[in-house]
Amino acid sequence: MTQADAFAQLMQSHRSIREYEDRPIEAGLVDRVLEQALAGTSSSGNLNLVSVVKTQDPARKATLHELHGRQPMVLQAPLVLTFCADSFRTREWLAQRQARLGFADFVSWHTASFDAMILAQTAALALESHGLGICYMGTTLFRMRAIADFLELPANCLPVTSLVVGWPAEAPSQRDRLPPAAWIHEERYQRPTPADIDTHFAERETRGRERYLSMGPEMAARWAEHGITSLAQYYTSKIKYDPDRFVGFSDEIEALLRERGFLVGMGS
Ligand SMILES: Cc1cc2nc3c(=O)[nH]c(=O)nc-3n(C[C@H](O)[C@H](O)[C@H](O)COP(=O)(O)O)c2cc1C
Repeated sequence: MTQADAFAQLMQSHRSIREYEDRPIEAGLVDRVLEQALAGTSSSGNLNLVSVVKTQDPARKATLHELHGRQPMVLQAPLVLTFCADSFRTREWLAQRQARLGFADFVSWHTASFDAMILAQTAALALESHGLGICYMGTTLFRMRAIADFLELPANCLPVTSLVVGWPAEAPSQRDRLPPAAWIHEERYQRPTPADIDTHFAERETRGRERYLSMGPEMAARWAEHGITSLAQYYTSKIKYDPDRFVGFSDEIEALLRERGFLVGMGS
């Protein structure tokens, strides 16, 4: 098999795993994978503005479970990796060498957080190549402050995403994606017509709706209670990605970036 075929197969086999065996990951494997992942991931300016905190202690994982909205896989999986945008270490280095303060602005926050995200994805694929399962925890953004404090992150260091990692105890089917015509553009952005939107979203509207409603009568009852009749309505309803809550989370993140020194190079 060529390297390209092997990589295509690895990507094809990706599934977010939400049920895990009660089995530890052998010592050394995760550190090795993380080290390889950093070496194998581009890094803006090669500054490596990232830190990863490993949580394996069951009591500490129990606290993370609460912070991640009690998503069960945080308790089940033996390991949680929290990927952090980290300019603390670099700023300490600059100060120690009497260099000008830098990396204290919104662009640098982006740089650090993108570096952390792309490292997370390389690590995810690498962990999957060992047969491990992973699931991202978007809840890291919702509880950024509490997670930062729990992990004792210094100023200029904030969590941007987390992965739960462990041996899969489920084999879910592959999830759909939008078709290439919806998002790959030749030379210029191809604005979708209403008919294109209908076509591009058709499969997920059917499959997504079926998937949520097949979760049991409780979900169907909640859809009815909130007057939800389509997948689109579900996504921005109070019971999924509620825009009102997202505004609150966004304000909180902005305040935190300011408070933790990511925006000191900016106006107020
Ligand atoms: C940044 C990010 C955050 C996510 N957060 C969660 C989460 O909090 N809980 C969860 O169950 N899945 C989470 N996921 C997984 C997505 O739901 C999943 O990738 C998507 O439904 C597609 O399924 P697949 O990964 O199995 O292909 C997240 C994925 C990403 C990329």
